[in-house]
Amino acid sequence: MSKRVVLVTGAARGLGEALTRRFHQAGYNVALGDIAVDAAEALARELSSDGSGAFAVKLDVTKKADFEAARDAILDRWGAVDVLVNNAGASKVVPVMEITAGQFDDVISVNLRSVLFGCQVFGQHFATRGAGRIVNIASLAGQNGGSATGAHYAAAKGGALTLTKVFARDLSAHGVTVNAISPGPLDLPIVHESVPAETLDNIIARIPAGRLGSASYIADVAVLLASADAYFANGACWDINGGLSMR
Ligand SMILES: NC(=O)c1ccc[n+]([C@@H]2O[C@H](COP(=O)([O-])OP(=O)(O)OC[C@H]3O[C@@H](n4cnc5c(N)ncnc54)[C@H](O)[C@@H]3O)[C@@H](O)[C@H]2O)c1
Repeated sequence: MSKRVVLVTGAARGLGEALTRRFHQAGYNVALGDIAVDAAEALARELSSDGSGAFAVKLDVTKKADFEAARDAILDRWGAVDVLVNNAGASKVVPVMEITAGQFDDVISVNLRSVLFGCQVFGQHFATRGAGRIVNIASLAGQNGGSATGAHYAAAKGGALTLTKVFARDLSAHGVTVNAISPGPLDLPIVHESVPAETLDNIIARIPAGRLGSASYIADVAVLLASADAYFANGACWDINGGLSMR
């Protein structure tokens, strides 16, 4: 049987790297989409030196044409694609009253327009072939407004949760599922780089689990949602936040 194929966006580092490694471990062929194409290429080479099981594709998630080009590059290489993980995202901590039009548009673009275009391009492809899985990486910020992130980021992630439901509803009759994973703060480089140590200690003190979340566990859940057997899990938001928010 041929291997399943996944495209992970923002695959070069952080959660995207964890997702890439986990899907590869699970036997998938992995396309690594990122604007940081050198770092994505280095990771792809580490996983598959001859490119047969992993390769990097330059993908700016704010551009629909880049998703189309990535889809075509994957089909050229492996003849099929089964799963899209919309993971790429970015945030800037700016007080809500100070967010400029440019900052708002940039953050909405990378966190929300990305989900729209990814789901359009891959959702259409999956619907045509009658099977596919999409996993959108949202955030607890999209549910509670966020603590150490900007309001534009939180609003974009809330929008990503809504788009997840819209695409899930529209694609479900075509064998396609669309789910979101909504992590709380994770033990990842970006968290340590962008949150001052004292603020981070305060955040961790408020997490009922008492520590930051594990990126590799988020990746495990993504692999579970991506499986062909996962046809009954659809349009859901999978909360993984250490108990910070319960519903
Ligand atoms: N780190 C956390 O605690 C946390 C919590 C909840 C949700 N998330 C979400 O997880 C996802 C990954 O976050 P991370 O912590 O790994 O961040 P990160 O900044 O470490 O990595 C983001 C990756 O996305 C890439 N990227 C940025 N803009 C891009 C674009 N326009 N096109 C393609 N790639 C682009 C970057 O090059 C990088 O490789 C994001 O959607 C983020 O919102 C993270």
